[in-house]
Amino acid sequence: MSTHIEAKPGEIAETVLMPGDPLRAKWIAETFLENPVCYNRVRGMLGYTGTYKGKKVSVQGSGMGMPSAMIYFHELINEYGVKNIIRVGSAGSYQEDVKLNDVVLAMAASTTSGMNNSRFINSDYSPTADFDLFIKAVNYAQNNNIPIKAGNVLSSDEFYNDDPEEYKLWAQYGVLCVEMETAGLYTIAAKYNIRALTILTISDSLVTEEKLSAHARETTFKDMVKIALAAASM
Ligand code: ADE
Repeated sequence: MSTHIEAKPGEIAETVLMPGDPLRAKWIAETFLENPVCYNRVRGMLGYTGTYKGKKVSVQGSGMGMPSAMIYFHELINEYGVKNIIRVGSAGSYQEDVKLNDVVLAMAASTTSGMNNSRFINSDYSPTADFDLFIKAVNYAQNNNIPIKAGNVLSSDEFYNDDPEEYKLWAQYGVLCVEMETAGLYTIAAKYNIRALTILTISDSLVTEEKLSAHARETTFKDMVKIALAAASM
């Protein structure tokens, strides 16, 4: 047992899919895994282990934002020996051609968080996806006719922003969308030499101010999870 996860040694797979929402973790485990078993209920941050095409896979909620997610990333890597983390989450579009329901692979993550400023004083670090997981995700999507976009994303510390125009600076520099965890994930994965990838579904747009309904989210979430499981199992 670690500070925030009550699993016994060996109960968590080397590969973990991580949505922010713990109920989404339950849904992924019950929809896609064979024989899912819940290994964590501490703080309601549900975690499950099952198999996918015969391979052991876990799904663990991370909570929202880097401070919460980093706790789970850290304990999974350091206390449970996790080697591959694939975040599956939602994001807000910053670009006209990144539309609701689109699937985005995060090649790199810019951030408004101070986390890396305090690590790399007066310098910028570029948190980057694992190339192997990235290529596997691209290949699966292309072979299964799932359209994807890939590029830089912004990991923000705030969901609600006082300035509705602020996103335009990031957009001008090609950032595709905003979410809240990937810069932390890619940084800690590099630090401990494990593999990480973030796959996102666009749930809202700062450009058009549209939002997906809860029902529509579920359908596209499936494509994203299929890509994640394929990258995890190949
Ligand atoms: N996740 C989904 N939509 C988001 C947004 N607009 N900002 C930050 N994180 C998000």
